[in-house]
Amino acid sequence: MAFPPSFMDELVARNPIEEVVGQYVHLKRSGANLFGLCPFHGEKTASFSVAPDKGIYYCFGCHKGGSVVNFMMEIEGLSYPDAVRALAKRAGMEVPEDEQYQSRYRQQERLWALSKEAARYFHSQLYSPAGAEGLAYAQKRGMTPGILTKFGIGFAPNSWNGLVDAMKAKGYTEQELKDAGLVSEKGGRIYDRFRNRLMFPIIDVRGNVIGFGGRVMDDSTPKYLNSPETLIFNKRKNLFALNLAKKSKLGYLILVEGYMDAIALYQYGFDCAVASLGTSLTQEHAVLLSRYTEQVYLIYDADQAGQNATRRAIPMLEQAGIRIKVLKIPDAKDPDEFLKKFGAERFQLLLQESTNRVEFQLAAIGSKYNLAVDEEKIRYVQECAQLICTLDSSVKREVYSGRVAEAAKITMDAMKLEVDKAFRRRVAQEKKRQEKIDLAPMKALQPKDRSIRYDNMRSAMAEEGILCQVLRDPSLMDSLGRLTPESFSVPLLGRVFAQLLNRHRQGLEVQLGVLDDITPEEMAHLTGVLQRHQGPVNEKAFRDCIRTVLTERQEKAVSSDEDLLALRNKLKESKGTKI
Ligand code: CTP
Ligand code: MN
Repeated sequence: MAFPPSFMDELVARNPIEEVVGQYVHLKRSGANLFGLCPFHGEKTASFSVAPDKGIYYCFGCHKGGSVVNFMMEIEGLSYPDAVRALAKRAGMEVPEDEQYQSRYRQQERLWALSKEAARYFHSQLYSPAGAEGLAYAQKRGMTPGILTKFGIGFAPNSWNGLVDAMKAKGYTEQELKDAGLVSEKGGRIYDRFRNRLMFPIIDVRGNVIGFGGRVMDDSTPKYLNSPETLIFNKRKNLFALNLAKKSKLGYLILVEGYMDAIALYQYGFDCAVASLGTSLTQEHAVLLSRYTEQVYLIYDADQAGQNATRRAIPMLEQAGIRIKVLKIPDAKDPDEFLKKFGAERFQLLLQESTNRVEFQLAAIGSKYNLAVDEEKIRYVQECAQLICTLDSSVKREVYSGRVAEAAKITMDAMKLEVDKAFRRRVAQEKKRQEKIDLAPMKALQPKDRSIRYDNMRSAMAEEGILCQVLRDPSLMDSLGRLTPESFSVPLLGRVFAQLLNRHRQGLEVQLGVLDDITPEEMAHLTGVLQRHQGPVNEKAFRDCIRTVLTERQEKAVSSDEDLLALRNKLKESKGTKI
């Protein structure tokens, strides 16, 4: 669906890319660009860039890039028109469109509104006669009135149609109730999915209610019933209580297993705890966390399942550039129980004593081997050395080497040799990888996306240069000489140039963000090009680029003419010899 060009111009102007991206990514300025951790792949160093002057973002790591519209599409999982609508809404603009058009975005908005209404309904039930049992249970679990309000805790009464009726009265349809995952269906009739349960609304970072977890009040099963996956509820991408924890001033986040754990922590002053939604931690969760903090305390349940989950979570958090501390809860099964038994001060002490991830990982390696067996001891030492050699400070390497040497009862010298060996092996591998990259500079310049090819590298580089210059200073397009879009050797670059030229001639904005008919892959490529060619406008360089493109074009034409001539001569010759 195409929007009017003038509308797109205004939309882009009223949604500065650094502001929109800044709502999701912590950005730091460096010269003309801003940098932050890429929200689309896990990383430790900021390779995600935003160029406010060009209206684009680009990640030098994963090569995603585009305009403010592409960013919304990517980060919110929206289609192009829905991303445009979201930005229009943000800027308070009317979207020129057909009223009949039922968009995914509108549907999403309805489901958000419905879920919020449902949360209000559940919360009010808690204080009604039908909710007496629920309130008593919440109080028994130590929840204060303040906490019940803060988390919007509610109660689903023991009824088949309490919620259905209340929501229908508010104008929601059966289909919408189904789409929101609030009802079940049997024999064509719908009924309340959540009954006789204490309700925990799940709220995303923007404050939308997206789903629920409902807990039974006795030992029946399932203990928790969660919303199914819906258009607005994705367990892999959301964390319970992150809407609150992201505002914490504590400077770190605590990752726990249970809703009750996150709530208890909040109540005891640790307002920075989040829980996954009955799934194990995903890479998406880790990236989401990294937007809000650099330091995470992993505090899973004391049982074996919790410890296994810890082991799986560590590499994911590390990938996302998060510093990890691991905390094992003593004398209680989970943080909730610990706090209630021992209080906040003892918990604070636990946080201070928590082990870092290296200690946790060394212990995990240790638990795999029987050090009384020589064979296993050797493998233990080697595996520990592989871990230690990745540490960035010599002091750390020395400290942990000492511990391993002690555990394995070998000398510090022997351990040091082992770590050095592991280190050299790593360096050699790294060097090999780098050499591969260096040996293929031409290949490196080829677009990452396989659907775009540069056949004439000299011309393609000049074409890139031309685009970058005119995007920076459109008035350059007033003196193109013989250059036309058809002169370009790369079809994509020619197509973009044609659109920019058209826009310039009509007095419209000349920007990448407003172009039509460009696929996300093409856009990612273009923004990569733009970020690669930095530096100010230079008219001489611009003219050089034009000359190169025209020359390359001509040579190609001449060479194909020559080919033809040569062919004809050859044919003549061969005929001649035959005759
Ligand atoms: N969970 C779930 N479905 C279940 C059991 C658990 O989705 N049948 C999820 C919930 O998100 C729960 C988390 O796994 O919060 C951890 O489970 P558990 O430790 O049993 O729950 P707690 O939140 O600690 O609840 P409680 O203290 O009331 O037992
Ligand atoms: Mn618990």
